[in-house]
Amino acid sequence: MTQNSTVVAQMRQLIQMLAKHNHAYYVMDQPTIEDSEYDQLFHQLKALEEQYPDLLQADTPTNKVGGRPLSKFDNVTHVVPMLSLGNVFNQEDLFAFARRAEERLPNQQIEYDVELKFDGLAISLWYENGILVRGVTRGDGETGEDITQNVKTIRNLPKVLTSESGQIPELLEVRGEVLMPKAGFEKLNAENEAKGEKTFANPRNAAAGSLRQLDPNIAASRPLAFYAYGIAQCQPHHNQTTMSASLQWLTQFGFAVGERQFVCQSIQDVQKAYEQINQERPNLSVEIDGMVIKVNDLKQQQQLGFLSREPRWATAYKFPAVAALTAVENIDWQVGRTGTLTPVARLNPVAVGGVTVSNVTLHNIGEIHRLDVRIGDTVSVYRSGDVIPKVEKVWPEFRPVDAVEVHLPEQCPVCSSPVVMPEGEALARCSGGLYCAAQRIEAIRHFVSRKAMDIEGLGDRWAESLLHLDLLKDVADIYHLHEHREKLLTIEKMGEKSVQNLIDSIENSKKTTLASFIYALGIRGVGETTARMLANTFQTLDALREADLDALKKTPDVGDITAEWIIDFFRASHNLEVVDRLIAAGIHWDAPIAPTRQPLNGESWVITGTLSQMGRDEATQMLQALGARVSGSVSSKTKCLVAGEKAGSKLEKAEKLGVQVLTEQAFLDLMKEYGVYSA
Ligand code: IVH
Repeated sequence: MTQNSTVVAQMRQLIQMLAKHNHAYYVMDQPTIEDSEYDQLFHQLKALEEQYPDLLQADTPTNKVGGRPLSKFDNVTHVVPMLSLGNVFNQEDLFAFARRAEERLPNQQIEYDVELKFDGLAISLWYENGILVRGVTRGDGETGEDITQNVKTIRNLPKVLTSESGQIPELLEVRGEVLMPKAGFEKLNAENEAKGEKTFANPRNAAAGSLRQLDPNIAASRPLAFYAYGIAQCQPHHNQTTMSASLQWLTQFGFAVGERQFVCQSIQDVQKAYEQINQERPNLSVEIDGMVIKVNDLKQQQQLGFLSREPRWATAYKFPAVAALTAVENIDWQVGRTGTLTPVARLNPVAVGGVTVSNVTLHNIGEIHRLDVRIGDTVSVYRSGDVIPKVEKVWPEFRPVDAVEVHLPEQCPVCSSPVVMPEGEALARCSGGLYCAAQRIEAIRHFVSRKAMDIEGLGDRWAESLLHLDLLKDVADIYHLHEHREKLLTIEKMGEKSVQNLIDSIENSKKTTLASFIYALGIRGVGETTARMLANTFQTLDALREADLDALKKTPDVGDITAEWIIDFFRASHNLEVVDRLIAAGIHWDAPIAPTRQPLNGESWVITGTLSQMGRDEATQMLQALGARVSGSVSSKTKCLVAGEKAGSKLEKAEKLGVQVLTEQAFLDLMKEYGVYSA
């Protein structure tokens, strides 16, 4: 075998494995491997393709569309127009649809194919000799847009038709729908929200927005899927005689079809299938807005033909609306674990898609302004399957004269501390910190964590139960838990021994360092390093409490915004109260090394490469004891780089910037001189 054919064989094997797992994931809804394993296979293939671009396989799923962003989409005229469907909304209309068909097919038995009505975007796919050559949107039904580049990025769509049993048609035009499955939609929205980017109102908008991207790399990054529902052209003919069989025939080439489909012998059975699916709708992996009822026999379809732009052999049977109108009775502000304030609209309860909705999040004050929603307004509430309900729009025409505008509260609704909304941020926060009941659990977890007060077991194991028993109103109560032994013993799985261990580790935590204590307070923006810098600079807790903005800003590692947050924290009397109670409970520390003994105070050092005589942690601790800040990257502000064996790019950068470089030995000598190292 030549090297090329070995590479091709490897590529083919990977492509086949990926296709198999895609099928299991999208079609069977039963993933056979972990996502991370899939990614591994995927990256293996991608790496091969990068190494051997000439051997790239046409059906690769790596989305290597190779295209640049388009400036616009080309128009394409559909050879077979993409028509629409008539609608029925209830049993009576459904039966009338069946009667009309029966009248045109006297003395014939009619079988119905019942499919999911996907709520996505209709597209047409052209395959010539088994190769996907074109993907086109429905457009106005006559002319659509050429979105081939984007379509090729859809993972579950075969780019090359292969089949073990059947012959590959010379021409095949498949019709179907592009969708974003619910799970992918929620993940995409969560990721976008975390990045502060735009979220999509529903999977349909997300799918439409993704397909209409001129840059195929964007479409490639979106979790789109294609589901086939029809064959517009096939040469030579596929020889199937029914709708259901022709869809089944498509699956041999790797096309996904709906996860539910029924063949019904009577229109009464169609009604039952519809009711069943309406129930199961929240459990489906994709969004649907009804069912499509088709006469199953293809010959009968031909006999029935079309009436203007709609087939007489098919109709959509829509589900009751998933959007509903209701009134906003109030807008409350909820305080999250990290102090963020989220507005929640309390609604006059309304059924949306089979579920009663009485609360809906409005995300932030910006969203309230965008929607211009007021208390008393009529809104449409949208719910897609099991996706969280959302306010779609406000109906200003129904606005009562006494509708109340909503403003960001000035005080936290839970603890009455001032609400702050830093400039440029979307989220408002309660400044209550340790004092705010809503933020307690997080504050407690942070307070007891290893780098803070280091109270073992409390954060992970007991914090929630202690809160439920009302034993922890704030972190200072931790040091009074020993007064409640009896109550502690009522906690599930908390025996005498656990109680004693907990009380012992609380007692042991009382001796700490000023830096750990400052860190434990959970002041916004004050991480471990900043806490250490504050301890070194201010030396005592009292000095820190009284520090003004200027003094704080001068502290190494403290930026302007953090300086303000520190001021805010120590200005709040309830925080001071908690701090005082902690000190009164016996928390103490040795005075930090005085600045006179901190010759490297405020300097930024970087350690790189492998040190032979100690670990990096130890070297870091020595530098920190002398007041230096140890950073991970070299910049013009770096005072000195300690370069061990195999120092790479950091050393190069330091040399370029003229930063002083110390070998390990020179570093150790210096540490000896300062008295923090002896060997
Ligand atoms: S068959 C002659 N089957 O519904 C038209 N359409 O209102 C044949 N749709 O734009 C269409 N799921 O995109 C058919 N299982 C399904 C469908 C389906 C969704 C969409 C289709 C079309 C719209 C028609």
